[in-house]
Amino acid sequence: ELKDNTIIIVFGASGDLAKKKTFPALFGLYKNGFLPRDVHIVGYARTKMDEAEFHKRVTSYIKNPNDDAEVASDIDDFKKFTSYLSGSYEDPASFKELNKHLEEIESHYQSKECNRLFYLALPPSVFVPVAKNIKDECYVSKGGINRIIVEKPFGKDLKSCRELIGSLKQSWSEDETFRIDHYLGKEMVKNILVLRFANVWIGAAWDKNSISNVQISFKEPFGTEGRGGYFDEFGIIRDILQNHLLQVLSVLTMERPVSFAAEDIRDEKVKVLRAIPAIERNDTLLGQYVAANGKPGYLQDSTVPPNSVCPTFAATTVWINNPRWEGVPFILKAGKALNESKVEIRIQFKDVVQGIFKDIARNELVIRIQPSEAIYLKMNTKLPGLYTRAMPTEMDLTYKRRFTDTKIPEAYESLILDALKGDHSNFVRDDELDVAWKIFTPILHWIDGQDGPRPRPINYPYGSRGPKELDTFIGKYGYRRLADSYAWPVTHLS
Ligand code: BG6
Repeated sequence: ELKDNTIIIVFGASGDLAKKKTFPALFGLYKNGFLPRDVHIVGYARTKMDEAEFHKRVTSYIKNPNDDAEVASDIDDFKKFTSYLSGSYEDPASFKELNKHLEEIESHYQSKECNRLFYLALPPSVFVPVAKNIKDECYVSKGGINRIIVEKPFGKDLKSCRELIGSLKQSWSEDETFRIDHYLGKEMVKNILVLRFANVWIGAAWDKNSISNVQISFKEPFGTEGRGGYFDEFGIIRDILQNHLLQVLSVLTMERPVSFAAEDIRDEKVKVLRAIPAIERNDTLLGQYVAANGKPGYLQDSTVPPNSVCPTFAATTVWINNPRWEGVPFILKAGKALNESKVEIRIQFKDVVQGIFKDIARNELVIRIQPSEAIYLKMNTKLPGLYTRAMPTEMDLTYKRRFTDTKIPEAYESLILDALKGDHSNFVRDDELDVAWKIFTPILHWIDGQDGPRPRPINYPYGSRGPKELDTFIGKYGYRRLADSYAWPVTHLS
């Protein structure tokens, strides 16, 4: 339920994340009538700028391609309840000023109850002081609700994550804390629980008896392009696999929750994650992109240290030691500067009993998270005609075609709305994070050179499918490519 008299305070308001994601999402919610009544939004950052400059910045990513008058007027209205304050992140005096600004807004509210949602779109170096300063100076105590939203990176390994979580906990309770993994806000990721538990046939085939192997892949067609400073310190595993892909994996493999309540869901996610042993080195393939087709290689990014061996591509195989999944490989793979932009889950089923069939294709269920949301099942059917011959074809649920009038919400819209309502289901709990780091910390330490020489990633050309060893790697875990004669009709892709 939404609370009236809420102020949303965005820290790091002059930064990239706020500009590209947070403010457009807040606007999207406003436009569709999902923000609380009398809401105010306050941007806060170190940069000094006047309100006009601030408004220009935070609305620069709001889309209005056709210069629609209604959208333009919504943007003007949005600016009216959005203000900006600059100040330090470390100095309590700045937070006292901020508190005054908030109280001034609140003095116009009809009722006494005031609620504050603090959104930290900040680099990790200032998480802790900001969280503490907010608690000390800007926390409303009388009857209102305080919530804090934080974003990754949550540390760099198990130890640093525990330290960070521990420090934040000194000021904020678990109940007040909302840790974003924006993949949990994506429509198709939210759909997984419904698909799995509202369909008898999917439920029945969802285990080691039917499934041969699973791939969860993330592909981006661009490199680090100026973000290399951040990226080189973290690498693709921390950037994508340890959080986004592992979250998808946990929802895909957890047992049925007792209810849709947040703690019931998160209990099951933690349970399945705890059954995953730390990833082995030989279940890992690392790559780094090099210049090709006129595009620069990773090492040519001026923000990247020369000779860096940071992986920009990784495939790792995860095993789940429980009765449902024993022996099924889950391949998590992600890369920058690849040949396309695509995030999907590909579940390959086992062979049907041979005998009457020979060389028949396997079933594959694909959940395409983005772009162009779709679910399709590759299945065999009789080739129409007078002969009895099987051929692979597909059952296709392409969202654009099936849900023609529906706008699919942005992940951040969905998550900010959840945080406003106090629903934790799609946020990461502290123990989830802990077990996620346990799974990845040993290979990360190996890659970082903490236990010996750093492994060299395999080069792959910018714009390719990744290291050429990838097919052999996936093949090792039993993935079988369909015959070359089968091609998913190209028209379905866009
Ligand atoms: C972020 C990563 O968490 O997710 C980025 O830091 C990545 O490197 C981004 O580009 C991808 O998000 P989306 O929603 O565009 O798939």
